[in-house]
Amino acid sequence: MSAPVPVDGRSDRAPRVAARPDIALMAGYHSPQLDVAVRLNTNESPYPPPPAFARALAAAVGEVAWNRYPDRRALALRAAIGALHGLDAEQVFVANGSNEVLQALLLAYGGPGRRAALFEPTYALHGHLARVTGTEVVVGDRRDDFTVAPDELERVVEGASPTVTFLCSPNNPTGTAEDPGLVATAVDLAARTGGLVCVDEAYAQFAEHRADGLVDDDVPLVVSRTYSKTWALAAARIGYLLAPRWVVVELEKVALPYHLDAVTQLAGRLALDHLDAMEERVGLIVAERRRIEAALDALPVRVWPSSANFVLFRPTTRSGDDVWHALVERSVLVRNCSSWPRLEGCLRVTVGTPDENTRFLDALAEVLAAGTDTDPSPEVAS
Ligand SMILES: Cc1ncc(COP(=O)(O)O)c(C=O)c1O
Repeated sequence: MSAPVPVDGRSDRAPRVAARPDIALMAGYHSPQLDVAVRLNTNESPYPPPPAFARALAAAVGEVAWNRYPDRRALALRAAIGALHGLDAEQVFVANGSNEVLQALLLAYGGPGRRAALFEPTYALHGHLARVTGTEVVVGDRRDDFTVAPDELERVVEGASPTVTFLCSPNNPTGTAEDPGLVATAVDLAARTGGLVCVDEAYAQFAEHRADGLVDDDVPLVVSRTYSKTWALAAARIGYLLAPRWVVVELEKVALPYHLDAVTQLAGRLALDHLDAMEERVGLIVAERRRIEAALDALPVRVWPSSANFVLFRPTTRSGDDVWHALVERSVLVRNCSSWPRLEGCLRVTVGTPDENTRFLDALAEVLAAGTDTDPSPEVAS
């Protein structure tokens, strides 16, 4: 084995070892946080889980045998999640957030010589995790309304035979829910080409269509879910995959032993006792999303219909970047997507509490009333 090469050529320091070249070239994933009054940039729940959940968790934590490893198979949690979806514990894989679930999926089913397909614009982590795991990324395009056209799906899947085809419904950052017919087509194509379809349903409870009911041992479909949004538990880091048993068996091989700590397992299980409170939060957020969409319609912005807890919009009289900065000056933080591929000039706002939403809408109206950029970006006019 050759000795590591000093990066700066100096011999009096320990040499810096070069990372894998493809990793070294990556920019990494960033979601900047700023100290503002109204934080609407990461699609979290604006409401906490109910106090009864916090009390039950505190009591259960008092009983944890801290000197012992947790249940390695997380069986109680997997059984509870399975029951929620009409599946068995063996058809559920749980990890520390759905990003880790997707990483496990790509560790097991991606890798060198294999491909993952996705349709841009979509959730950046699908491509990022594929690349980190050495999986080649094959990119298809979404239509102007951000849905995936069946013929584009067919072109990509038949052309590349990906082992994982990602759909995201509702799609982040566009809010678009996929048509159930498209998911069915994707599954048929995957069955023919020897791949899996992964529907990322991080925001499923906000939408009308869900694919969890299609999961079956004889269907090459997996569905990922998270506790970070509708369950209001972003801090706990819990996500899961609903999948055929034979997929879960493989994912368990790539997960680290005891990767789910005892408190995470308890939090995930106890949260499910508060299904009504979750559905109530979802109702409030959907009502507020509709209010935001209606208010945006009256402003000089293009708005895409959303089935999630966020709304994508593009100012038509000022550049997205300029509007983003002007909102930050007014202590309102939204996600700046304006430099993302295929989303030129776009911003994404997470639905907050009614008061936060009103502050956002007032600030935006004020910013847009302030006039046109002296140097609007060319895409703003389109
Ligand atoms: C589409 C999508 N999938 C997955 C995740 C990751 O969620 P988690 O917090 O469970 O890792 C997010 C988070 O924003 C998301 O938007």
